Amino acid sequence: MTSQTITESLVTQPSASTKRSGASSAMPQNVLDITGLTVDIATPRGTLHVVRDVSLHVKRGETLCIVGESGCGKSMTSLAIMGLLPKSAKRSSTRFEFLGEELSQASKSHVNDLRGNKMAMIFQEPMTALNPAYTIGEQLTEHYRHHLKASEADARARTVSLLEKVGIASAAQRLGQYPHQLSGGLRQRVMIAMSLMCDPELLIADEPSTALDVTIQAQILRLLADLQKELGIAMVLITHDLGVVARIADRVAVMYAGQVVEQGSAAEIFSAPQHPYTRGLISCIPIPGRTIPGGKLGTIPGVVPSLLGEMTGCAFRERCASAQVSCAGSIPVHQTPHGHQWRCVLEPTKVVAA
Ligand SMILES: Nc1ncnc2c1ncn2[C@@H]1O[C@H](COP(=O)(O)OP(=O)(O)O)[C@@H](O)[C@H]1O
Ligand SMILES: [Mg+2]
Repeated sequence: MTSQTITESLVTQPSASTKRSGASSAMPQNVLDITGLTVDIATPRGTLHVVRDVSLHVKRGETLCIVGESGCGKSMTSLAIMGLLPKSAKRSSTRFEFLGEELSQASKSHVNDLRGNKMAMIFQEPMTALNPAYTIGEQLTEHYRHHLKASEADARARTVSLLEKVGIASAAQRLGQYPHQLSGGLRQRVMIAMSLMCDPELLIADEPSTALDVTIQAQILRLLADLQKELGIAMVLITHDLGVVARIADRVAVMYAGQVVEQGSAAEIFSAPQHPYTRGLISCIPIPGRTIPGGKLGTIPGVVPSLLGEMTGCAFRERCASAQVSCAGSIPVHQTPHGHQWRCVLEPTKVVAA
């Protein structure tokens, strides 16, 4: 990520105003609305609290970026939303609404149906979702036919048109190829096409470009951002790259040690970050007008704490330059009228943007 692309992104904030064509005005505005999501994983060493009291919402036509270092619970949050958690994980929530329907008690088969039809996920490594034994055409048409009971001809036409939409040349000829015959970038484009086959309302992309070369990364992220706007889908994009977030996000949720420690509009997060962890993350990327050209970027000393066993107080306090005794106690949640939220004992006025 160059500082130039970050400049562009910071001056051109994306808008969430794109309307999904055909969306009924009677439909709820929030595609996803979660309160108090908790995921615990039982291990021989004890219980891992990988997602702790997470509350999130994503509106139609909006991109929510979830950021945070590795091991903060971003993937577990997305797997919990998709109903794809490992068997050892236990999930609970006080509200789990998708398209206005409460899914906390929904049957597994209903969630499976939704996952095929209304929500889709793109993983970091496309080979986790593509089967090496089947051609691209077989996998995409099968997926479509299974979920929408479409004819083979319709499924094939839909597949070719989506492969073209995601920028794959000679799409019809690609149908007979196997995943291993494609480059990493092309495989990820196929994954994106597959995720769009059933016209989802919610797309979750978990570090979709991390495994790719830098130039291909930018292309894939641009493609996702363009498709999200064009189709008016709600997108949750998980990344540890704040430069990407600055370019794509409408709203941002910052995760640390299984919790959302701050969330708000991208403009609020970048111009008035309140949690010391968010400020630390932002200090690690070049920001025009703020970062001295040629100067050193920040780092956050220390590592993410273990998620094992009971956790009290602010999980960031060991690494926080502003830590005080009260950080070991219960942490207040601040909220502005615009929905900018953060968990910290510091008063907002005492927090200075990095
Ligand atoms: N299958 C699993 N079994 C046990 N622990 C897991 C499993 N998958 C992830 N974890 C742990 O859950 C925590 C959160 O992981 P994850 O959601 O993958 O983080 P992130 O995506 O933010 O890097 C980490 O401590 C990780 O080690
Ligand atoms: Mg992850």
